[in-house]
Amino acid sequence: MNRKIGVKILGTGSYFPKKILTNADLEKMVDTSDEWISTRTGISERRISEKNEPTSELAYKASIDALMSANIKAECIDLILVATTTPDMLCPSTACFLQMRLGPTFIPAFDLSAACSGFIYGIAVAKAFIESGLYKTILLVGAEELSKFTDWTDRNTCVLFGDGAGAMVLSASQENNDILSVFLGANGIYSNLLFLPAGGSVHPATVHTVNEKMHTIKMHGREVFKIAVPKMVLAATKALELSGKRLDDIKLFIPHQANMRIIEAVAKKMGISMDKVFVNIYKTGNISAATTITALDEAIKTNRVNKNDIVELIAFGGGFTWGAAVIKVT
Ligand code: UT7
Repeated sequence: MNRKIGVKILGTGSYFPKKILTNADLEKMVDTSDEWISTRTGISERRISEKNEPTSELAYKASIDALMSANIKAECIDLILVATTTPDMLCPSTACFLQMRLGPTFIPAFDLSAACSGFIYGIAVAKAFIESGLYKTILLVGAEELSKFTDWTDRNTCVLFGDGAGAMVLSASQENNDILSVFLGANGIYSNLLFLPAGGSVHPATVHTVNEKMHTIKMHGREVFKIAVPKMVLAATKALELSGKRLDDIKLFIPHQANMRIIEAVAKKMGISMDKVFVNIYKTGNISAATTITALDEAIKTNRVNKNDIVELIAFGGGFTWGAAVIKVT
């Protein structure tokens, strides 16, 4: 009798660009204050990539870190998946650029677009591919350079975002199953609340789209906030149910880091004490699809979680999309 294929998390990694942009720096750029940004968002600083440092470069460095932690060579990977909203180019995919840097030629590579929920969507895709037997070892990356799609004159958005990348290596296993559950959702009716208008087929690049700054992220923050909280609670609750675990079984909750007030509201509604919630937004800002994986990697590297601890990742983003995954720490 064939046993069901399980998924083992072999390792995680992350990378942040060196340059730090503080709230004090932003005070010199737009009409804002450290006090407003800190109290309204929880962010103190964020990392910003260099001009000649594309998203695939951050993805590459995070991948090397993850491969080292997994103790395997790039040649062992048989699929590369990159979750990103800020790719190097629309075509080819950032995953192809990453493959070129890493070296495992001919293996399939593609990008996955689900905004800030991208990494959770990626976990679901990787899990399904492995369980189906189609691929054995998958490199899943969340990589973003939101700074390159930000209107640096718009105080409503420019104080929020940052750059970074995280990676996870997942592999087929007969003995282990580290992905206990994944729950995903989306509702395109909210596409006008958080979006990047131009550069696609609706508004191909023109002088007008450039002059109107339509190639940068637009957000109706207050409306996004209102929907983010219940959807993150829903996703977290559903994924927990699917995993067969109880709230008390979860060692650490790792929510998407978009706003400290959202994180606190989600924790309060779920009845989770904040000492069980991972927070690093103060030093990263919102890095979209890179958020949950870089936070997980930091939690592992700082021994906030240890082998076999159960962790829940929870995300929400443009689309709207949302999702949560209950996983066992490798
Ligand atoms: O990652 C994907 C999901 N994204 C999110 O979940 C983000 C969700 N939204 C948020 O995090 C918050 O809505 C924001 C942080 C974006 C904004 O916070 P808010 O408490 O909702 O503020 P607001 O947009 O309602 O604006 C309040 C005031 C306004 O002034 P008036 O109209 O009351 O005079 C804004 O113009 O704050 C003003 N404001 C600022 N003031 C200083 C907006 N941005 C700034 C700023 N500095 N940077």
